[in-house]
Amino acid sequence: GRTYRIGVAGLGTVGAGLLKFLGERPDFAPAGGRAVVTGVSARSRSRKRPVDISNLPWFDDPVALATSPETDIFVELVGGSDGPAKAAVEAALNAGKPVVTANKALIAEHGAELAALAEAKGVPLLFEAAVMGGVPAVKMVREALVGDDIRSIAGILNGTCNYILTEMEATGRAFSEVLSDAQRLGYAEADPTMDVGGFDAAHKITILAALAFGCAPSYAAAEIEGIDQIELLDIKLARDLGYRIKLVASADRSEDGVLVRVHPSLAPMSHPLAQAGGALNALFIEGERIGRIFVQGPGAGAGPTAAAVAADIADVMTNTVRPVFQKPAGALAPFTPVDPSRS
Ligand code: HSE
Repeated sequence: GRTYRIGVAGLGTVGAGLLKFLGERPDFAPAGGRAVVTGVSARSRSRKRPVDISNLPWFDDPVALATSPETDIFVELVGGSDGPAKAAVEAALNAGKPVVTANKALIAEHGAELAALAEAKGVPLLFEAAVMGGVPAVKMVREALVGDDIRSIAGILNGTCNYILTEMEATGRAFSEVLSDAQRLGYAEADPTMDVGGFDAAHKITILAALAFGCAPSYAAAEIEGIDQIELLDIKLARDLGYRIKLVASADRSEDGVLVRVHPSLAPMSHPLAQAGGALNALFIEGERIGRIFVQGPGAGAGPTAAAVAADIADVMTNTVRPVFQKPAGALAPFTPVDPSRS
């Protein structure tokens, strides 16, 4: 089989996890072929990492890696909706190279324009790892559910917040202390404000809404409230009343348009969302014909997220080119936000 040369930009939790996996299993793809990392780029070359990168060609500039003639597939794990991540993804697509990214901010904020570019160039732009880590939520909503009309999606999409809320309740420890744990375990974003402020969950539900409803992603339309105001006392009071506080992300479609929200919610103790503890993610999908689907699984961390990136690389290797969202970019409906004060 063919050897695919993989350029990996960004060597944080996910990037290091991917290098480890590809080092051990270069022949993992279902249709054969090999995926070999032929170039890496990150902010610091010398930072201590769980993988040895000393033998890999180094690029100071991710754009140079993205456009290198030695790169067959560009993997963007830098993060951030603008700056080097966006520049490198655009450069790769413009050079006609398939792109795999875990960058939810980038897709939520610039997904429609990047989709148009990818489709104009006829190359895949895949982002399975951007939502729910190891749970194949993107594939499920984009591909498996095209046979239905999805009405609503709702769930827990940020592992860090779920971990914090779970640990605060279980151990009575303070917010800042359990946040440090979440950072140490590799769940949190480089800037944890993205997690606790609800912005990361908003990026993810924005992407799922676009996939589910066939519209362009519109992060700006999301209503966002995080868990930074939640105190131990709130968690205890909720528990005494038989509830757990969960950061819920939801998207609902009606005749008026689409409403995307992230906010702390009370879930009855026996509800599946209340039962999803630790860094688990969980999601309900409700469709006209299928009724209700519930999935849950690891939404953060090196292993699950790297597995989702690898699955996208396998898709490129097996040559599956689909529209980036549910329909070709030119056929995406405009995003029509609902006025939340009316719901
Ligand atoms: N910071 C994210 C989370 C990582 O906690 O869910 C996975 O996207």
